[in-house]
Amino acid sequence: MEYGALIQNRKSVRAFKEKAVPAAMLDELKAFAAGSDRLADLDVELLVYGSEAGKALEGACGYENVMIGAPTYLVLLSADGENAVVNGGYVMEDIILKATDMDLNTCWITFTDSAAVAEALGIESDKKVVAVAAVGYGEKTTKRLRINIKSMSNVDVTAQRGYFAPKKSIYDMVCVDRIGNTDGLDVAMGFYNDMLWNAFYACTLSPSYLNRQPYTLILKDSSKVILVSNPDEYTDKLSEDTGLGIVMRHFDSIAQLTGWSLGADDVELPEGYKAVATYKL
Ligand SMILES: Cc1cc2nc3c(=O)[nH]c(=O)nc-3n(C[C@H](O)[C@H](O)[C@H](O)COP(=O)(O)O)c2cc1C
Repeated sequence: MEYGALIQNRKSVRAFKEKAVPAAMLDELKAFAAGSDRLADLDVELLVYGSEAGKALEGACGYENVMIGAPTYLVLLSADGENAVVNGGYVMEDIILKATDMDLNTCWITFTDSAAVAEALGIESDKKVVAVAAVGYGEKTTKRLRINIKSMSNVDVTAQRGYFAPKKSIYDMVCVDRIGNTDGLDVAMGFYNDMLWNAFYACTLSPSYLNRQPYTLILKDSSKVILVSNPDEYTDKLSEDTGLGIVMRHFDSIAQLTGWSLGADDVELPEGYKAVATYKL
């Protein structure tokens, strides 16, 4: 897959045509999920549901419990274990980029109670629901359909215009050696022959719960990148972990060097920040 282009082309779509996604394409997505790269050694399984699942999930999923209507829903199950949700974010984002490559449109869908999602869909499994997404063929619109985040307590998922939460730029998301410092970032990125610039750019395009992107990447000693989770009062643990998995997937998709190792690094951080993973350059 041409990850760079797919990451730039993906956007959340919230209005879908009724047109069904062909069964062969859904099988391809399931097979892709089964063979996908992981951050943690945990079994995952992709379940596929039709439009009726939208009704069943009403009240259990979606911003302010508003479900996005779609012909198909993807539900990712994972074996229980440390980093199951981070890994779920990583794997589901890969599935979403694969779907983008197949000219499908997608939207991540939030939930706070994994068991409630399983119950709504009648899932009986030892594995837990770690990620949900809508997939289908997006309605053609003249403008990009963007979520309207009027304020953090007033999110209008039906609005077709207005987009008050732009994504972070590289200079908002990446620091050199310590949180808050961007001195030397241009030189450092140039040194890596644009690879780092492209990988960081891919990170800034990461989808996240309410578009908060509550994380920072620290380029430390010119030899590693440390992913740090920022304090964010709007993002709960589930969405935080999912977002961390997603941003690691975006970085990996471009960097393709060593891979992330999960776990705290010895970097000094302000209170409330947490080192999550390290990527050796
Ligand atoms: C974990 C997660 C949960 C999300 N939940 C929802 C949701 O329930 N409803 C919705 O409309 N968008 C949802 N989104 C989509 C984000 O709002 C979207 O990614 C963000 O606004 C950035 O826009 P983009 O995806 O078009 O780049 C979710 C995204 C993530 C990563």
